[in-house]
Amino acid sequence: MNAENFQTSRCITLNILRYNPQDKASEPRLQSYALEAADGMTLFIALNELREHQDPTLQFDFVCRAGICGSCAMMVNGRPRLACRTLIADLPDESTLTPLPFFALIGDLSVNTGKWMRGMSERLQTWLHAKEAEPDLERIEERMAPETAEAIYELDRCIECGCCVAACGTAQMRPDFVGAVGFGKIARFRIDPRDTRDDDDYFELIGDDAGVFGCMSLLACHDMCPKALPLKTQIAFLRRKMALVA
Ligand code: SF4
Ligand code: F3S
Ligand code: FES
Repeated sequence: MNAENFQTSRCITLNILRYNPQDKASEPRLQSYALEAADGMTLFIALNELREHQDPTLQFDFVCRAGICGSCAMMVNGRPRLACRTLIADLPDESTLTPLPFFALIGDLSVNTGKWMRGMSERLQTWLHAKEAEPDLERIEERMAPETAEAIYELDRCIECGCCVAACGTAQMRPDFVGAVGFGKIARFRIDPRDTRDDDDYFELIGDDAGVFGCMSLLACHDMCPKALPLKTQIAFLRRKMALVA
């Protein structure tokens, strides 16, 4: 983005789903806001402008503003995206913003991904099951092959934004589906040489229709992941491995 683009501005319209599930009188509706936005702005900045100058009641989440915390994910014209990584320049003159489906709605564009992610992590035990009670991580890191460390790092880039789950048709039909984010976590520990679990243990966790056998290879998760995690490869690999255990 160059300085010239940043100075280009136009009037855009944001149609935003407004709804407060805590308020019995509230009914879901689209509210339209017009604002003058520079093309170099992110959608996150535009939403802040709206909240500051037009409507202080508008609810949406953010923490980092840099694509790291995962909290600003929302549906932008029907696709899950991070507001802080979405440029106004890439949006049409009129856009519709709705909250991520699947997750509990807090209000307007704000959803509780954290609660779901915590439940998924507990269910899939997404922590290191170490060989030793107090592993000497420094020593073990030394032994880890660089390509293994790189593969783990790649999967650890997940920011738990929920875009993969929001994009997934299976997740919309199965509330207990662990989603691509869950598969990514399992894949991460499966390749970690410090973890004691074997494929039988992983089968216990994801070898059912709420896990890999519920996945219909729709691959919207892969296409919509804002961190471009290798979800397609990992899901295909896990499916093959779990089919061998079954
Ligand atoms: Fe977000 Fe990608 Fe992690 Fe899914 S896998 S939660 S889309 S970063
Ligand atoms: Fe859903 Fe991704 Fe499988 S979109 S169906 S988890 S390939
Ligand atoms: Fe943290 Fe957008 S505000 S990812």
